[in-house]
Amino acid sequence: MEKLVIRGGRPLQGIVSIGGAKNAAVAILPATIMADGPCVIDNVPDISDVHILLEIMSSMGVVVRKDAPHTYYLDGRGLVSSVIEHEEARRMRASYYFLGAMLSKFGKAAVALPGGCNLGARPIDQHLKAFAALGCETTVDHGMVYCDASHGLKGAHIIFDIVSVGATINAMLAAVKAEGRTVLQSVAKEPHVVDVANILNMMGADIRGAGTDTIKINGVKHLRGVDYAIIPDQIEAGTFIAAAVATGGYVRIDNITPKHLETIVSRIREMGGEITLDEECAYVRRRGPLLATNLRTMPHPGFPTDMVPQATVLLALAEGTSVVQEGIWSNRFRYADELRRMGARFTVDGKTAIISGVDSLSGAPVASTDLRAGAAMVIAGLCAKGVTEVGGLEYIDRGYENFVGKLKALGADIERIDDGTDGGLLVREA
Ligand code: EPU
Repeated sequence: MEKLVIRGGRPLQGIVSIGGAKNAAVAILPATIMADGPCVIDNVPDISDVHILLEIMSSMGVVVRKDAPHTYYLDGRGLVSSVIEHEEARRMRASYYFLGAMLSKFGKAAVALPGGCNLGARPIDQHLKAFAALGCETTVDHGMVYCDASHGLKGAHIIFDIVSVGATINAMLAAVKAEGRTVLQSVAKEPHVVDVANILNMMGADIRGAGTDTIKINGVKHLRGVDYAIIPDQIEAGTFIAAAVATGGYVRIDNITPKHLETIVSRIREMGGEITLDEECAYVRRRGPLLATNLRTMPHPGFPTDMVPQATVLLALAEGTSVVQEGIWSNRFRYADELRRMGARFTVDGKTAIISGVDSLSGAPVASTDLRAGAAMVIAGLCAKGVTEVGGLEYIDRGYENFVGKLKALGADIERIDDGTDGGLLVREA
């Protein structure tokens, strides 16, 4: 089994560059099949979720060519309507974006349900509600979602019951070529939602209001191929901000969009971070002792749920007691046991965690229980006294490009090794 071996205690120092946004990439790559010509997508992160997505696209008949380390030429013109079966769909959550993209291109789609995950139940009822409102018949049978709009998709007024990133993007994908006008209300406003709207508009779509509560779409007949660069990953940037502050280092973080980081930066400042935002980079260090801070996660522009595990490492080492309330996922705090193993005082009651800061953490063998929890374990290991071993690297690989290489370049003592075992107890979640 592969694991990370971290010898803690070295403050991170130097420059790190942030890659393209995972949650934009996993929507934009499927969206390219909707174009009538080839697309060239730049700033594609080199992460396993993207590799899986490109494998699925290639097996569907999309011409996938890597032109540069982060640049892909994608030509979906030869694509025939495909069925995405269980084995492929289960390898990553965002396979559901093929529903919206294929529905728009072919008027029908069949994709296996992505299934639950370790953050809690992940239903797609809001995606299906939007497709149905656009005139599509949806059925779920033996774990497959079938969408049929053979009579054509028609614009509609859709008010979502909850704010969902996935449902907002899927509804946009399905509606861009629907006849007439679609209004989507109570939508997600995350930067990746806006990024998807931007590439679709460049292709010729008519989408207004992405980034606000209401998105208005006038259906168009054709979408053309485009060259497009994906936005920087706000959560990867936030993770390095947290790591720099936690270790008491001094790091310049390049290739960021400062506006996307406003909430993360303002909350980490409250925790004791000194962060200066420049046009395309952030300078990050620690101001003094880490300070207890209460947090509540909310859809954008609130504090993102995907930064909770990393931020709670700071709170675990802060003076005083913090209360963290999770507003999105029921199982966000599954990593609490792992942090406790390292000496953190962390109690969880449902979606609320109470964290009483300690003076130091001590190295221990820990597992990644999900992608962001894995990043948090690494940050904890960088701060801890002694050696920390982090297992469950498949989670970290899903969303962090060259995490170990970037940390090493900042002076971290971290190695990825294969210990020749099957992992035993270290990977507690498959
Ligand atoms: N929900 C429903 N019904 C739906 C859709 C969502 O009840 O049809 C619920 C979910 O169960 C959840 C809430 O609504 O409680 C929000 O879910 P959302 O649909 O916004 O999440 P998602 O699109 O499945 C994306 C990111 C997640 C991130 C969430 C919240 C992608 C591929 N994933 O998931 O990212 O946590 O938004 O911001 O965009 C990560 O990057 O580590 C990650 C998990």
